[in-house]
Amino acid sequence: MDKLIVQGGAPLLGEIRVSGAKNAALPLMCAALLTREQLTLSNVPHLKDVSTMLRLLAQLGVEVSLDDRLGLSLQAERLSEPLAPYDLVKTMRASILVLGPLVARCGEARVSLPGGCAIGSRPVDLHIKGLEALGAEISVEQGYIAARAKRLEGARVVMDLVTVTATENLMMAACLAQGTTVLENAAREPEVVDLAQCLLAMGARIGGAGTDVITIEGVAQLRGATHRIMPDRIETGTFLAAAAATGGRVTLQGTDAGILDAVLEKLRETGAELQTGSGTISLAMRGRPKGVNVRTAPYPGFPTDMQAQLMALDAIAEGTAVITETIFENRFMHALEMQRLGADIEISGNAAIVRGVGKLQGATVMATDLRASASLVIAGLAAEGETTVDRIYHLDRGYECIEEKLAQLGARIRRVH
Ligand code: UD1
Repeated sequence: MDKLIVQGGAPLLGEIRVSGAKNAALPLMCAALLTREQLTLSNVPHLKDVSTMLRLLAQLGVEVSLDDRLGLSLQAERLSEPLAPYDLVKTMRASILVLGPLVARCGEARVSLPGGCAIGSRPVDLHIKGLEALGAEISVEQGYIAARAKRLEGARVVMDLVTVTATENLMMAACLAQGTTVLENAAREPEVVDLAQCLLAMGARIGGAGTDVITIEGVAQLRGATHRIMPDRIETGTFLAAAAATGGRVTLQGTDAGILDAVLEKLRETGAELQTGSGTISLAMRGRPKGVNVRTAPYPGFPTDMQAQLMALDAIAEGTAVITETIFENRFMHALEMQRLGADIEISGNAAIVRGVGKLQGATVMATDLRASASLVIAGLAAEGETTVDRIYHLDRGYECIEEKLAQLGARIRRVH
C-alpha cells in the first residue's frame, strides 16, 4: 500500500494548475447514459474515482475513448444489462448516479447499495423516494436497488434534506420523463449547475439550477454535446489551506474564485492575503494563522469537504477554534490522527474544539477518508520533522497527482510503494 513521506517545515511557494472537479466529472460522465449520441468532456481529472466510473460505464455498454489532452468521449448507443454490481459500487458511492439515467433510458436498473468514504451513515433513501415520486417502482433486495418504470412521469419532489447526488440523479432522470418535474429543496452546489449546463447543451429543458427549486421539462430524447468540466473547488481550497498552513505564497491557475467564497472568507479570517483574478487565486500568509470557527453547511455555506483541511490550519493557529460538522456524522477521524502529530483537539458531539499549538511534530498517521487524507498531508507539511501518511489510496480517489503538485510548490514529499 502506498505511503507519502513528508518533510515538514518548508513554505509552499509557486504556481500550479487546478484540475477539473471530481464531483462534477462523475455525474457528467453518467449523463452520457441519457443519449445514444456521443458526449465529449474536456478538463477531465485523472483520478481513481474517474477510472472506477469508466469501468462501470464500460460494463454498462458505453463506448469510451480518451485522448491525451484530458478529453473523454462517451457513447451509449446501445446499453447492455443495466446493472451496477457491488464490486464496483462499493469502492465509490457516486456510482449511485447511474441509477436515475438508467431507469430513465432503459426503463429498469439494478444498482448495488453503495459504499465509499467511511464518514458516517450515508443513506440513499432520497434517491429512491425521488424516483418513486417520478413513477418508478423500487424494491431493495439482496443489497441491490431494483427500479422499474415504463416511462418516468414528471412530479413535484420535495427533498427532506439538501443532497447533492440525489439532486443530480433526479435532475438527470427527469430530463427524459413525460411532463414537468419540480425539485424543491434542491442542492445549489456549483457541480449541480455544471451538470445542468451540460444537460442543456444535450437538449434538456432545465430552469433554476443553482437555486433550491429546479424545474425540468421532460423531452423524448437528448443529443450529444461537448462540455468542459468546471475547476475543482475542493482541490483549490486544499492547496490554499496547505499554503496558509506553511506560511507560503502560491498562485493557483485554472480555477474560479466565485465558487468558493465561503472558503476564501475563512482563509482571509486566518490572516491570509488573497487576490483573485480571472481564473486565478493567489494567497500569501505571513506569520502564524489565527484560529477560525467553521460550521459546515450546504452550498453556499462552508463545504464539509474542506472541514478537515481547515482543522489542520486551526491546529497550528493562534487561539481556540470550534469546528462544527452539520452534514455528516463521524467525520472527525482526522482529528485523532492529528493528535498523533501533537494537535490539541477535543471532540464533543458534532463539534471539534481545536486549541492551536505553536508547532506540530512529525509522526506516522493513517488516512481514513479522502479529505481526511488531505488534511493529514497539510498537517505534515506544517509539522517539524518527518510525517508518514499511510493508506493514501483514498487521496488518489480525489486528488490528481497531489504529491507532484505539492513538490512543484517546493514541498519535500515523496511516495513510497
Ligand atoms: C456529495 C459529494 C461529497 C460531499 C457531499 C456533501 C459527490 C460525488 N460527492 O456527496 O464529496 O461531501 O456531497 O457536500 O458529489 N442523505 C440522506 N439520504 C439520501 C442522501 C443523502 O439522508 O438519500 C444525507 C447524507 O447522509 C448527508 C446529507 O444528506 O448527511 C448530504 O449528503 P449528500 O449531499 O447526498 O452527499 P453526496 O451527494 O453523497
